[in-house]
Amino acid sequence: MTVSANANPGQGGAATERSADPFVRIRGLTKKYGGHFANDSINLDIYPNEVLALVGDNGAGKSTFIKMISGVHRPTSGSIRIDGRDRDLHSPQEARNAGIETLHQNLALVDVFTVQENIFMGRELQRRIAGVVPALDHAEMRRRTEALFEELGLPKPDLTRPVRALSGGQRQAVGIARLLLDSDVRLLIMDEPMAALGVEESRLVLDLIERLKARGFAVLIISHNLDHVFQIADRIAILKTGRMVGAVERDEVEHDVLVHTIVGGRLPEHLSHRNAEHLA
Ligand SMILES: Nc1ncnc2c1ncn2[C@@H]1O[C@H](COP(=O)(O)OP(=O)(O)O)[C@@H](O)[C@H]1O
Ligand SMILES: [Mg+2]
Repeated sequence: MTVSANANPGQGGAATERSADPFVRIRGLTKKYGGHFANDSINLDIYPNEVLALVGDNGAGKSTFIKMISGVHRPTSGSIRIDGRDRDLHSPQEARNAGIETLHQNLALVDVFTVQENIFMGRELQRRIAGVVPALDHAEMRRRTEALFEELGLPKPDLTRPVRALSGGQRQAVGIARLLLDSDVRLLIMDEPMAALGVEESRLVLDLIERLKARGFAVLIISHNLDHVFQIADRIAILKTGRMVGAVERDEVEHDVLVHTIVGGRLPEHLSHRNAEHLA
């Protein structure tokens, strides 16, 4: 568990202050399917300690973009620089090694297992009885699970209950805790994490994202719900038919302006300096 090592929110500024160097720097990222550009020369920076929302109509290229930076699909061209190093991501494992994790919608939890069993699934801790016979170390796993929830500031569910008894928001917390158990995650990607949740549950997940940010993680979130986007995002990146329209500060854009930008694919005049095409 290396969360505390990642928990430093930059160079001593306020918690919301953006650090100078992006964690991920994307330039000219392009994905072609046949003759069709699913992503066309995308430029974007992702900073530590920020929540960046990626929005756009169906087919705008959001999933394609995320799949490239999480190592699922190879770009046709363009570069992905992570923590100052150009990376060629051949697999999700390589992305993970570079600090990028994706929380999938199904969360990959096993319903009949307890919270603790889900978190340690495939990497159970063992102890030796009388120094010889190997046995699962339930006490230590429980201690580490509790410490993990504590450290992440996640609401702690009853660890001994099967996860099928948990609410959607609690399941999200377990899914996130599982991802962060023993990895060096710095960017967490979430594709529509609130899609199947009610109002209360969504609130829980929005809180959870806020806590992750406060602990120094970058979060890239795809959401169709613009109310959620405005509640959670520091910046909003807008895609339209495979192109990056721009990335704007949440505080400099209004709800109806954002809707117009998503539909029209052009930033309004007063925000046009935010067009990501102009990134150096
Ligand atoms: N595997 C694929 N093969 C061919 N075309 C694809 C594939 N994946 C996505 N596309 C196309 O690329 C475009 C962007 O899709 P996608 O990234 O899924 O958009 P979004 O997630 O924003 O809805 C769409 O036109 C889609 O049809
Ligand atoms: Mg999609």
